[in-house]
Amino acid sequence: MNKNTLSVTDNRTGKIYEIPIEHGAVPAIDFRQIKESEDDFGLMCYDPSYSNTAACRSNITYIDGDKGILLYRGYPIEQLAEECTFLECAYLTLYGELPTESQLSTFTHGVLRHTMIHENVKKFMEGFNYDAHPMSMLMSTVAALSTYYPESVDVRHEELRTEQVLRIVGQVPTLAAYCYRHRRGLPYNYPDDELGYVENLMHMLWKRTEHKYKPHPVLAKALEVLFILHLDHEQNCSSTTMRTAGSSLADPYVTTAAAIAALSGPLHGGANEAVLRMLDEIGSVNNIPAFIKEVKEGKRRLMGFGHRVYKNYDPRAKMIKRIADEVFEVTGRNPRLDTALELERIALQDEYFVARKLYPNVDFYSGIIYQAMGFNPAYFTVLFAIPRTPGWLAQWEEMLMDKEQKIARPRQLYLGYGHRDVVPMSERAESAVAV
Ligand code: CMC
Repeated sequence: MNKNTLSVTDNRTGKIYEIPIEHGAVPAIDFRQIKESEDDFGLMCYDPSYSNTAACRSNITYIDGDKGILLYRGYPIEQLAEECTFLECAYLTLYGELPTESQLSTFTHGVLRHTMIHENVKKFMEGFNYDAHPMSMLMSTVAALSTYYPESVDVRHEELRTEQVLRIVGQVPTLAAYCYRHRRGLPYNYPDDELGYVENLMHMLWKRTEHKYKPHPVLAKALEVLFILHLDHEQNCSSTTMRTAGSSLADPYVTTAAAIAALSGPLHGGANEAVLRMLDEIGSVNNIPAFIKEVKEGKRRLMGFGHRVYKNYDPRAKMIKRIADEVFEVTGRNPRLDTALELERIALQDEYFVARKLYPNVDFYSGIIYQAMGFNPAYFTVLFAIPRTPGWLAQWEEMLMDKEQKIARPRQLYLGYGHRDVVPMSERAESAVAV
């Protein structure tokens, strides 16, 4: 008997089926042959939230959640953060290998050439309320870009696709900076392509009246590393949204907007904002025990803790904690750090968190750093979306090139009514749920 198979006995019929095992997985479609009778639809796999379903084969990012390992294209995140720039890592994620000097120079030029946005996009952004949430602004404006580049609908055209990828990677930081300036009522700064990718973002965010903006090297390095750590994270909620929306062959602008929407939620990228709100609410370390008690009673969650995949310390959180000290040397210490450190200390000893393998994730310390740099919590998730953009686009490209991928279309277990006939309104009974 082939050892790389799974023998399944259907106890309803007594039949035995051999299902092949490849790469530690069984093809879900093979379960369809398992039927009780000829007209039976066949077995499906029920997996709400895809906790144990591989929806694609991928070569981009590897996570070992138990050991706390994260690799982009095989390279450990720690080495990449130490030795490479964000654009080198973006290139690696998008094209599979680290670039040579000339490849990086062409890529950098391609990205920075696209940082300018159409003047009408600025007008579009001016329509937002002064207090609009920056993630909503970013998402809507990225979707609106689709109207400026109608050729992008041809997602099967390789050259056009490459052009859109460079444009999106180039324009997202500009849009993000404009969201920031908009909320503060400041004029938008045009990009400066004499600066590097991160330095140009800092210039667009923070330049005031000085002739030439000079980015602080420690803050630039911290942002560079934070961006590398946020670049990709395999099949998370927003990347899955990117692949799902993209599988209908929608253009990359609206598809990226869909991924930004998914990232904005507090259980995903929005957690960094939620962490800061939580730390503010806790206030001082004296209030931590009462807060932890509420968490354990299931009344609330300890934001920035826990992960679907990591059942160990998130390697990104470890590195972010280290960056915090360097940033605080420049900006002054964020007093919320004490509350965060104490929360972590208590949680890591507490049976509730230990038993559930809940450790700090990437969002636990990133917000504290961003706040020390002067960002408002509402903006934190935008700082996640900027570096995640090339990651989403790499996932999108891989999905489009994968011959096994079709339009994403899960099944459901229908548990609603069977057939029933419409009764005239005068004969209808009031339903339990009044609208
Ligand atoms: N605080 C308290 N309890 C928690 C937490 C938390 N942060 N996370 C999980 N649990 C408990 C949960 O109540 C459940 O307990 P029980 O078994 O008694 O019902 C158990 O741990 C398993 O939780 P789960 O909800 O089944 O786990 P999940 O894999 O569905 O959720 C998560 C993962 C990240 C959504 C969740 O841990 C969470 O809500 N964390 C807080 C939000 C957060 O920090 N999100 C950022 C994730 S990392 C950045 C990113 O990738 O976007």
